[in-house]
Amino acid sequence: VDKEALNKVIDNLIHNACKYSPSTDPVTVSSALVGPQVHMAISDLGPGIPARERSKIWDKFYRIGNEETRETQGTGLGLWIAKAIINAHKGSISYKDNEPKGSTFLIKLPRS
Ligand SMILES: Nc1ncnc2c1ncn2[C@@H]1O[C@H](COP(=O)(O)OP(=O)(O)OP(=O)(O)O)[C@@H](O)[C@H]1O
Ligand SMILES: [Mg+2]
Repeated sequence: VDKEALNKVIDNLIHNACKYSPSTDPVTVSSALVGPQVHMAISDLGPGIPARERSKIWDKFYRIGNEETRETQGTGLGLWIAKAIINAHKGSISYKDNEPKGSTFLIKLPRS
């Protein structure tokens, strides 16, 4: 893999998790080997992403127009870059609701 690029993806996702959730709440990072794939998940206990926004957050320069986003700084590039890097590795990146609340970003990469 392109280590520097994958570091950037994980860095972007951890930054988002910290930026969009209360600073006292934990951010969880996990990884697992699942058959021929490597899975990595970054989860937070923030507001989550509303269903109507889920397809748009991957767009270049897109930021959700809610309070959590307005109160923070960003260019709306992090997820767009993350998706491009994961696609270049023939993997996938997706959003899932976290339990009991918040966001989970799940990366799946082929092991070879
Ligand atoms: N963990 C999260 N919880 C809630 N909303 C999120 C989370 N991650 C991303 N978002 C929403 O998705 C939008 C796009 O995220 P993205 O990382 O691409 O941009 P950004 O964080 O605004 O700016 P940048 O990453 O370029 O500094 C964010 O503006 C925010 O509205
Ligand atoms: Mg970001």
